[in-house]
Amino acid sequence: MAHVNIFDTTLRDGEQSPGVNLNGLEKLEIAKQLERLGVDIMEAGFPASSKNEFDSVKTIAQTIRTSSVTGLARAKKSDIDTAWEALNYAAEPRLHIFLATSPIHMTHKLKKTPEEVIETAVEMVSYARERFPQVEWSAEDACRSDLDFLATIIERVIDAGATVINLPDTVGYTTPEEYGFLFRYMRENVPNIDRVSLSAHCHDDLGMAVANSLAAIENGATQVEGTINGIGERAGNASLEEIAVALKIRGDKLPYTTNLVLHELKRTSDMVSKFTGMKVPGNKAVVGANAFAHESGIHQDGVLKNASTYEIITPELVGVKANNLVLGKHSGRHAFKDRTIALGYDLTEAQISEGFKQFKLLTDKKKEVTDDDLFTILVDLQTKN
Ligand code: KIV
Ligand code: ZN
Repeated sequence: MAHVNIFDTTLRDGEQSPGVNLNGLEKLEIAKQLERLGVDIMEAGFPASSKNEFDSVKTIAQTIRTSSVTGLARAKKSDIDTAWEALNYAAEPRLHIFLATSPIHMTHKLKKTPEEVIETAVEMVSYARERFPQVEWSAEDACRSDLDFLATIIERVIDAGATVINLPDTVGYTTPEEYGFLFRYMRENVPNIDRVSLSAHCHDDLGMAVANSLAAIENGATQVEGTINGIGERAGNASLEEIAVALKIRGDKLPYTTNLVLHELKRTSDMVSKFTGMKVPGNKAVVGANAFAHESGIHQDGVLKNASTYEIITPELVGVKANNLVLGKHSGRHAFKDRTIALGYDLTEAQISEGFKQFKLLTDKKKEVTDDDLFTILVDLQTKN
């Protein structure tokens, strides 16, 4: 079976969701959880965008060992230099440079001719390769770009040293058939395309981001980009949990493997939802509260007789567990510790002791301590240590 690399951009494109502003500690916890989830690449942020962003990308690069860590840069030497300063600590640093290629963006935003865009892209990719072992180049607004121009610029940036070419549907405009064709076209018309990995990056403005991503995979994409819970600019990005579970459940039609540890999905979704403040709708596929609930009598009867009557995904596959343990004043240190692990934390014994003290104080005020209460305690602990 062919393999697809998972590129998570929850901490960059996801954080571009209106109203979301993660602090460094929250970003670090999410990064650690993404590593446990098994993402191949995580985009930790946009280092040149602010001092705080730089610091949190650097900390993530210093901490994460088994996923490659990348950061976004405009096609500018100063952005590339700043990104290198933050990312050179990573086990496998990479850079993600983007430059728009559609007539709309080149004319109105960049105010550059197509030739100037090619020149800038080539110059910046080769500059980046003097430092980074892996450089991804994104043709922003690829789906509204001229196909022949796109093929030409891709050929040139590959010669300049790009190792991954991303074709983003920046405005969520394309259909699955069109997006699949774009990948096929580039594979057939760019002579040096076999030297790189082709990546899909879809937005959900028309609700087709996941379907488009799957179409790209079927047409030669070997990397797929998205976010947990599908958060991101405007209507968001493709939901990684939906893509990964679709590949697992429909392996008959979509014979591709990923490195994701699927039973970490629910925990990752909960953490991202909590820290971003973006609630997951109950009916959200794979991780919504109702994804495994059955309301009608006929469905309940069927599921009780055999779950496969109305469930194509088992709750266990994505880490949904019936948790009957209610944390309250009678709960002990063991139950407290288990719950912190279930929430995705890997605390030291000293942190557990301190957290347990705070937990006990809270049980004097509240009958039941919820996961939200625990997250508050856990964030407080991380701030102190
Ligand atoms: O959607 C987009 O085009 C992007 C680029 C920066 C890759 O997020
Ligand atoms: Zn995007």
